[in-house]
Amino acid sequence: MERIKIFELLKSETPIEQILIKGWVRTRRDSKGFSFIEVNDGSSLKNVQVVVNDSVDNYSEIKKLTTGSAVAIRGKLVESKGGGQRWEIQAENIDIVHLAPDSYPLQKKRHTDEYLRTIAHLRPRTNKYGAAFRIRSEVSYAIHKFFKDRGFRYIHTPIITGSDCEGAGELFQVTALDLNNLPVKEGKIDFQEDFFGKEANLTVSGQLSAEMFCLGLGDVYTFGPTFRAENSNTRRHAAEFWMIEPEMAFCDNDGNMDLGEELVKHLTTYVMQECTEDLELFAKWVDKNLLSTLENTATSDYIRLPYREAVDILKKSAQKFEYDVHFGSDLQTEHERYLTERHFKKPVIVYDYPKAIKPFYMRVNDDGETVAAMDVLVPNIGEIIGGSQREERLEMLEARMDEVGMDKTPYWWYLDARRYGSVPHSGFGLGFERLLMLITGISNIRDVIPFPRTPNSIEF
Ligand code: 4AD
Ligand code: MG
Repeated sequence: MERIKIFELLKSETPIEQILIKGWVRTRRDSKGFSFIEVNDGSSLKNVQVVVNDSVDNYSEIKKLTTGSAVAIRGKLVESKGGGQRWEIQAENIDIVHLAPDSYPLQKKRHTDEYLRTIAHLRPRTNKYGAAFRIRSEVSYAIHKFFKDRGFRYIHTPIITGSDCEGAGELFQVTALDLNNLPVKEGKIDFQEDFFGKEANLTVSGQLSAEMFCLGLGDVYTFGPTFRAENSNTRRHAAEFWMIEPEMAFCDNDGNMDLGEELVKHLTTYVMQECTEDLELFAKWVDKNLLSTLENTATSDYIRLPYREAVDILKKSAQKFEYDVHFGSDLQTEHERYLTERHFKKPVIVYDYPKAIKPFYMRVNDDGETVAAMDVLVPNIGEIIGGSQREERLEMLEARMDEVGMDKTPYWWYLDARRYGSVPHSGFGLGFERLLMLITGISNIRDVIPFPRTPNSIEF
């Protein structure tokens, strides 16, 4: 007989004569002549209640079943006599696949997020993390569908690269050299001896590669892992995170902002429609305002605010900030959150940032001082998207690279693309984990990543 998943079982319209489920015991309690087992198989937040009559063969074994044990259950799906659920299973046969010892670390009480991080291998078995990672999976699907429906092609950009797209120097180096016996030439490590014959690193962004493909295939996107060795131990930074990076040909920064807004609205709407049960858990236990935040994110018109005006608002505000703001300073999380949570009370897109605080590839505006950048800021998180129109004019791009002191040689191909059929093009990066934080109300990025990588943490 084929196993049926609990989420399907619970949707049944009629009783079913013969079913087989497999899962893990959440709880068990005995009453006279019966044992009641709550079983969960990870396919849904809800458990199914299994009623076992003491006439079942191995009843004495079943009475020893502990939380965490794995079972395979055959029986009937029948209307539940007890309250609280429509269906229950009347067990005919229970196969104990594996009996967990009493030391199973997940007991019925609520555990703290901090504790669960120390047992990251078991946290997918809890209600909260089961829900979080089911949502992560659903949203991944929705992202691909969003782009597919709009004619974007999915490009697999490299994980190992020789460039630093953001120019922030937060690179994890990749090497095959023996670190205890490094080849040295003229007092320096000789990377010609290394695997690629030059220095390599893990990608910080797929953008530069995506740009090349956008100039051939039109609208494209990447969706993959990116790596940053930024030593900031905050609740919104991870060393390994996923980014969604669309890149559009023949598109300026206005079109870029339109797409960013549409994408965030689409994904929040999707989750509200498709993940209702899991979302309710977060609305109940994690963030009481979650549903109104999502409703607001999904339906309001996002404010579009030039950086200069953002600075004016922040300067005039009565709020005390830890960091000072003036033209030329980067917006800190506290500033971003003030704008979106307190001042406008909805998502805000800040654009036209000073060029001095943005990477080399952004298109310089006519004022010569700002670039066609755009960041989407959302409540509780701050920046969720960072993007820009790209500098498509060769001379301007070369001048910018010189200005920021970059060695142009390794970027010859990036420059070359501006020689042949260069066109205005734009794109952005949506931080996948930050999006999940917005959607679930989970306030620490470590808790939306299956096995998070942060400074001094790579246990699992
Ligand atoms: O603003 P960022 O650095 O932009 C880029 O990397 C561009 N090359 C993207 C592009 O235009 N194609 O990063 C984009 C987003 C941020 O807005 C944030 O949501 C997320 O990536 N992000 C991080 N998320 C988690 N941990 C980190 N350390 C992150 N750094 C950036
Ligand atoms: Mg950014």
